[in-house]
Order: sequence, then C-alpha cells, then structure tokens
Amino acid sequence: MRLRPATKEDIPLLKYWDKKPHVISAGGDDDWYDWDKEIPRNADWGEFFIAEEGGRAIGVLDIIDAAAEPTHYWGDIDPTYRAIDIWIGEEDDLGKGYGTRMMHLALARCFADRRVKAVVIDPLERNLDARRFYERLGFEFVERRRFETDDCIVYRITRETFESLARKP
Ligand SMILES: CC(C)(COP(=O)(O)OP(=O)(O)OC[C@H]1O[C@@H](n2cnc3c(N)ncnc32)[C@H](O)[C@@H]1OP(=O)(O)O)[C@@H](O)C(=O)NCCC(=O)NCCS
Repeated sequence: MRLRPATKEDIPLLKYWDKKPHVISAGGDDDWYDWDKEIPRNADWGEFFIAEEGGRAIGVLDIIDAAAEPTHYWGDIDPTYRAIDIWIGEEDDLGKGYGTRMMHLALARCFADRRVKAVVIDPLERNLDARRFYERLGFEFVERRRFETDDCIVYRITRETFESLARKP
C-alpha cells in the first residue's frame, strides 16, 4: 500500500465513489467535496492522498492542518493538531484491512512532523462501524459535537498513544 497525492486524473473516480451508498451514509449533510475545485490542492495546510494497493486506487484521505484550513471547519483548534477524513471507494474493499493500513500510513505521516501533537477525526455519531474502527486504532473519545447539522463524535489520538502503540509487537 502506498499513499500518493490526488491529481486531476482521479476526479472521475472520486465522483464515482461519492455515489456509493456506504460513502453517502458516512458523509454528513455538509461535508461533501467539490472535486473540481478541491483538486489539485496547492496548499500548505492540507493534502488529498489516494491509497493504492498493487497500483489500484483503493481509497482517499484528506489530511489537514485544522487550524490553518481556510473554512475553519474545526473552529478554534490547537495549531499542533491535524485532522483526517478517510474512506474506501468500492464496497468490495471494505473490511479487508485496507483502512487500517491507510490510517497507519496517514498517522505516521502526520507525526513525522515533530510539531504535531495529536490527530483528530469526526465520524457521524451514527457511524458506529467507523467509530469502532477508530477506537481500535487507538483514538479516544473527546466530545460529542455538532458540525453545522451533523451530529458527530470527535476522537483524538495523541503522539504518545500513537508512538506507544507503534512500539507494541
Ligand atoms: C471506515 C473505513 C475507512 C474502515 O476501513 P476498512 O478497510 O473497511 O477497515 P478495516 O478492514 O481495516 O477494519 C475493519 C473494521 O472497520 C470498520 N468498518 C467500518 N465500516 C465498515 C464497513 N462498511 N464494512 C466493514 N467494516 C467496516 C469495522 O470496525 C471493522 O471491524 P469490525 O466490524 O470487525 O469490528 C471504511 O470501512 C470506510 O470507508 N467506510 C465507509 C466510509 C466511512 O465511514 N468513513 C469514515 C468517515 S469518518
């Protein structure tokens, strides 16, 4: 598995994935991406990555510096935090461990920057599968929070937790 920056060539695939029921049900009312505007994202506050397995695109990751991101979706947030959004495109690729490997690569990437102290994510409250997935990865509950009209749960993983889990055999 490898992560590479998303390019304009990925836009048709990203739009196709947007129509998948598991992607629709995980997305809130407010957080849809306008791919033609979002990619390429030449910004110092965040990047879109495509995860590839054996050269095939599997899923997507949005990794942002939440305090610097211009819409201020996360509000007043610690500048040492990063935020991640993740999804797998094809339903056949769900539940096969790809998401876990994508998150490990994404977290390693975030924490490679020594200034980064924690990573946050905001699944919909009702997305119990994703919440279990994050909890298994070591994310801890922070709060229940409403983003616009979406009831979400904020989870956080600190550098200490990530590094101690990474040391475990
Ligand atoms: C959440 C997601 C990225 C996890 O990736 P994955 O490759 O399916 O996960 P893995 O195979 O590494 O791990 C399996 C675990 O993922 C979770 N999971 C979440 N959604 C799942 C789904 N639709 N099918 C199977 N497992 C799912 C479960 O906790 C599962 O473990 P369990 O059911 O045995 O307890 C992926 O399922 C996905 O894209 N879901 C739809 C979009 C989404 O919910 N994104 C998160 C938004 S915050």
